[in-house]
Amino acid sequence: MQIVIGNVLSAAEVALVREALAGAKFVDGRATAGFAARMVKHNTQADGSDRSLESVRKLIAGRILENEVFRLAARPKALTPLLLSRYEKAMHYGSHVDDALMHGMRTDVSFTLFLSDPASYEGGELVIESAAGEDPVKLDAGSLVAYPSTALHRVNDVTNGERLAAVGWARSYIRDPARREMLFDLDTARRQMFTISGKSAEYDLVSKSLSNLIRMWAED
Ligand code: NI
Repeated sequence: MQIVIGNVLSAAEVALVREALAGAKFVDGRATAGFAARMVKHNTQADGSDRSLESVRKLIAGRILENEVFRLAARPKALTPLLLSRYEKAMHYGSHVDDALMHGMRTDVSFTLFLSDPASYEGGELVIESAAGEDPVKLDAGSLVAYPSTALHRVNDVTNGERLAAVGWARSYIRDPARREMLFDLDTARRQMFTISGKSAEYDLVSKSLSNLIRMWAED
């Protein structure tokens, strides 16, 4: 399941992040790519050792982890350190699959939080490749797309302007994307039932099944 979540960061927070990035040191993005992805990765990213960006990384990670829709869709246990990437004109990231393990952690859910106003650059869509076809994603600043780390994906050539984004990975309590989707649907339906008719006997039964499925499937 691929999900778009709006307003993960407020406009003021996006401005704060962009201001911090304007003064940051960017290095060749190939430094953090696997050997095959390195062949197709053409972007830059903020130097991982840059301490001045620590508060910005913390702010973004905090906003993502506290976002209720993200919690329901990704069931995150932990996030990897965020990559803050910048694509300038003619930069792109060809088709690749993300490393299965990063920082000793399994990657289950990949996400991109867009930081540039979409009208300020051309190209730079994130394309997630699936059997059902390709779906180019280009979102408002502060919005995020999350998708299974099992998917091939790419970033189209930026033909004008500059594309800033925060990229990261979640280790999910639920490894299988199909199971995550079932839990998401069930949890969403349960909440709608509660809104319509309160804590009914039906709501309690669906809640019980949801909890027991999580117990059955979760890897903590
Ligand atoms: Ni990737």
